[in-house]
Amino acid sequence: MTRDEVLAIYSARYAATYDDTFLHAEHYEEATAFELAWLREHMPPGGTWLDAACGTGWFLSQFPDVDRCGLDLSPAMLDIARSHNPQVSFYEADFREPQPHLESRCDFVSLMWWAYCYAGSVPAIRKVIANVAAWTKRRLAEHRVRRSPSCPATAGSRRSADRKASAGRPRARS
Ligand SMILES: C[S@@+](CC[C@H](N)C(=O)[O-])C[C@H]1O[C@@H](n2cnc3c(N)ncnc32)[C@H](O)[C@@H]1O
Repeated sequence: MTRDEVLAIYSARYAATYDDTFLHAEHYEEATAFELAWLREHMPPGGTWLDAACGTGWFLSQFPDVDRCGLDLSPAMLDIARSHNPQVSFYEADFREPQPHLESRCDFVSLMWWAYCYAGSVPAIRKVIANVAAWTKRRLAEHRVRRSPSCPATAGSRRSADRKASAGRPRARS
């Protein structure tokens, strides 16, 4: 997707109702709870966390004691994210592009709700994975599928959804 196509979806109007529609609605609350638990489990103590494609920053807001930052393409989503997290730094940027200021800076980078699908092609998704790995200190990328109660492909498949890419070389093995 082009930048304009993404921004046409993630408008101010869409951003204003995003949390209620996609994070806290009955249909999605199990998936949201799963992601929150996964973040709690994997958050490195004392580490720096980047939530890439952070959207409204709701997940960031659940970790007030963590050194954290967010990145997103949509100014409208970032406006909400800033209002949820006044102490946090946010970057309006494209996760398909290298971000030299983030290189090797983070202990933990998340990219949730299948946001990488907006990259638009498999080569573009590979670039996103390579960027995410480059932004972590250990250059390790892990791919985990979001569980959705309504999706037979992912519901109940927490263990089988794990995909690890080898340390040192940022590539996906999924
Ligand atoms: C489905 S929302 C997920 C938001 C958040 N991660 C969550 O779990 O609630 C997808 C987000 O990806 C962002 N996004 C889409 N394409 C992007 C790109 N190329 N670079 C950075 N962010 C992008 C959108 O602006 C939107 O905020």
